[in-house]
Amino acid sequence: MSVLEPQVDAPTLPAEVKAAITELRKRYPTAEAVLLPALHLAQKAWGGWLPDAAIAAVAAELGLPVTKVYGVVTFYDLYHQNPVGKHRIRVCTNLACQLRGAEEIMEVLHAELGVGEDEVTPDGRCSFVHFECLGSCDTAPMMMVDDDYHENLTPQSVRTILQGLK
Ligand code: FES
Repeated sequence: MSVLEPQVDAPTLPAEVKAAITELRKRYPTAEAVLLPALHLAQKAWGGWLPDAAIAAVAAELGLPVTKVYGVVTFYDLYHQNPVGKHRIRVCTNLACQLRGAEEIMEVLHAELGVGEDEVTPDGRCSFVHFECLGSCDTAPMMMVDDDYHENLTPQSVRTILQGLK
């Protein structure tokens, strides 16, 4: 599936996404039920994120209100309204992690990656955001890289983790 530029004036889905959604609709009882997989398909087609045009196109394809689709996109962490890196880093900044150095972890990421929070490195490799509690408070401070937990972080361990990301 190719990566597309957003088409703000004419929000349409790529033909292969439309075809995949048509197939999905045969297996799901309602348009609402197809919405999550349809958004995944659109996000992949748009290169890993969902610009307004993609959201509008999915809404139009499924005959759903755009506001409803926005509600789903903003609710789930799996959908992105901004470009994200190939590796997505989430740093917990809730209380336990905050007390044990989450701010310093954020600073190390900023310094090592050379971009700010919610920005993508020029090579497209990484982006990072702060996040709510990720359920690993006893091993604070911690962060997730893609689906992996990294715990008891130190500035040096963060640097080592970053060096291992291809
Ligand atoms: S406060 Fe950081 S994982 Fe819970």
